[in-house]
Amino acid sequence: MSQSVGDDGLPLDQAVESILLRHQRDPACLVQILRELQDRLDYISPRTVQQLAAKLEIPITRVKSTLAFYSFLYDEPRGRYRILFSDNITDRMLGSMALYRHMLNRLKLEPGEVSADGLVSVALTSCTGMCDQGPALLVNNRAVTRLTPERIDEIIGLIRAQVPVSAWPAAYFKVEDNIRRADLLLNTEWVPGAALQTAIERGPHGVLAELKQSNLRGRGGAGFTTGIKWEAARKTPAEARWVVCNADEGEPGTFKDRVLLQSYAGSIFEGMIIAAYTIGAKRGFLYLRGEYTYLLPSLEATLADLRRRNLLGEDICGVEGFDFEIDVHVGAGAYVCGEETALIESLEGKPGRPRIRPPFPVSRGYRDQPTVVNNVETLCKVVEVMLRGGAWYKGQGTRQSTGTKILSVSGDVERPGLYEYPFGVRVAQVLEDAGAIEPRAVQISGASGTCLTRREFGRRIAFEDVPTAGSFMVFGKGRDLFEMAQNFAHFFAHESCGFCTPCRVGTSLVASILDKIGDGHGTEYEMNELAFLSQVIRSASQCGLGQASCNALTDTIQKFRGDYERRLRPIDFEPAFDLDAALGKARAITGRDDSGARLSTRVDIDQ
Ligand SMILES: Cc1cc2nc3c(=O)[nH]c(=O)nc-3n(C[C@H](O)[C@H](O)[C@H](O)COP(=O)(O)O)c2cc1C
Ligand code: SF4
Repeated sequence: MSQSVGDDGLPLDQAVESILLRHQRDPACLVQILRELQDRLDYISPRTVQQLAAKLEIPITRVKSTLAFYSFLYDEPRGRYRILFSDNITDRMLGSMALYRHMLNRLKLEPGEVSADGLVSVALTSCTGMCDQGPALLVNNRAVTRLTPERIDEIIGLIRAQVPVSAWPAAYFKVEDNIRRADLLLNTEWVPGAALQTAIERGPHGVLAELKQSNLRGRGGAGFTTGIKWEAARKTPAEARWVVCNADEGEPGTFKDRVLLQSYAGSIFEGMIIAAYTIGAKRGFLYLRGEYTYLLPSLEATLADLRRRNLLGEDICGVEGFDFEIDVHVGAGAYVCGEETALIESLEGKPGRPRIRPPFPVSRGYRDQPTVVNNVETLCKVVEVMLRGGAWYKGQGTRQSTGTKILSVSGDVERPGLYEYPFGVRVAQVLEDAGAIEPRAVQISGASGTCLTRREFGRRIAFEDVPTAGSFMVFGKGRDLFEMAQNFAHFFAHESCGFCTPCRVGTSLVASILDKIGDGHGTEYEMNELAFLSQVIRSASQCGLGQASCNALTDTIQKFRGDYERRLRPIDFEPAFDLDAALGKARAITGRDDSGARLSTRVDIDQ
């Protein structure tokens, strides 16, 4: 770490010390420390790794493994302007790949390559959660939306002129809420402390009773009953308890948490405070996905406001001993960290690899203590239940899916954005409201969700019919569902944490088989391989990422088989590796035929 003065005005060593001090030299803060150091140093060099390990008194391998795990942490220079194009299928439908190639061509760069002067690098990244205003990219972690060829040219101009990103036109970074249909949650204005006051009046047991009566179920995907989860954490004997808000929102096509974090942060935090009051927690975290770093200042401002109002801190609302604080922990580009145990690993400064469950976080979570992890939307719903009562809430939606659900609608629709409905709404209704353009299919709940055909548009959004964490991607007439499956396959192959073989190897095999089919070299053999692989991956993977990674594949093969078949060759098998082509040059130089190298000939000889 050499001495140089940075934007913070501090000499480098002093700046590093102040980062370590801020995190009390706690190895559990390693991801945060690495992120902040990288902001200062551009990348984490081997020397920095060594120094960090010494200062935190942890093995070098621990620093290295955490550094290697996260896409947004770099162990080599990446360009002073790091451009990452969002690569969800909806970005592609809006023309992102042409813009990506255009930028690469104009900068004379290969994907991922750093320009010779160290100025810029351009690559792809997983969905950035801007599907309602794509195509989008990240420049040094800040989202630029509604890209056009003109905007790309302007960006290239700014980079060449070395204008700091902080001085780029503010319009580039405008992220719209795009709320198209508001219901219970999105229509309600947050009154600071009102829900907490009713919780305090009810007492912890009263809160649990109210939650259970409401039958509130988690909005992060699995739909677990919130009251039961909180009760389990409260009942587990412990030295400390923790509350975590899961704001990792990495599921392709989902962006509702982004809007809640931007415009309803007070409700989210109040939901966390009510959770803390109920289970007896003193500390909490909001785990914010790295792509949403731009929201950090406004979230910090809301926290400061809550402290001023004595809704955070000590003796909250005058209740003696009711102390609670919240920290925002920023992720570093890993979809799997949305899985609650991987998220906890990440909070502890480790690579975000899911833990084997049980034990569940409610009994052994953060620092092995009971931890409640809830989705952003669930926590807002807690506020609603406190204000309106469990009995009233239970009357909304359907019997098994009470209340409302926010959908992130994107793709071939006239009005992409957020749509909040009581549970039980039909898919057809959503399509009509969003102005779907001759819909051929809808992919619900992201890459790990369900693909519905026109015949299924009468189905309902509800845990008992079509469950969803919120993503609702529409594919119009003429859209190719093979391309969607291929895009998702690459997403999973990239995002697999690599811990278990069926997922690590299987997702890569699926992606390469789909590429082979996409390149026109697939046969019926590959289709059988896909069927076999998806079964193995689903049944033998450890966590939800692997288990759900082939959902879109199997759905599209079953329901849109024609999109695959028209790419297949009418032969039984074509090798993935073309031996003759690979040897062609060598044969020409040596004048040899090498006929004995062929498998069929060897079999003949053996016989
Ligand atoms: C691969 C994977 C990614 C996930 N990503 C998220 C996420 O981004 N946000 C979220 O709330 N839950 C996510 N979940 C679900 C969480 O593990 C967990 O069930 C949820 O945070 C619990 O909150 P809830 O009860 O309020 O739904 C994910 C699960 C898996 C398997
Ligand atoms: S299923 Fe995939 S993401 Fe989950 S633990 Fe195994 S390798 Fe990691």
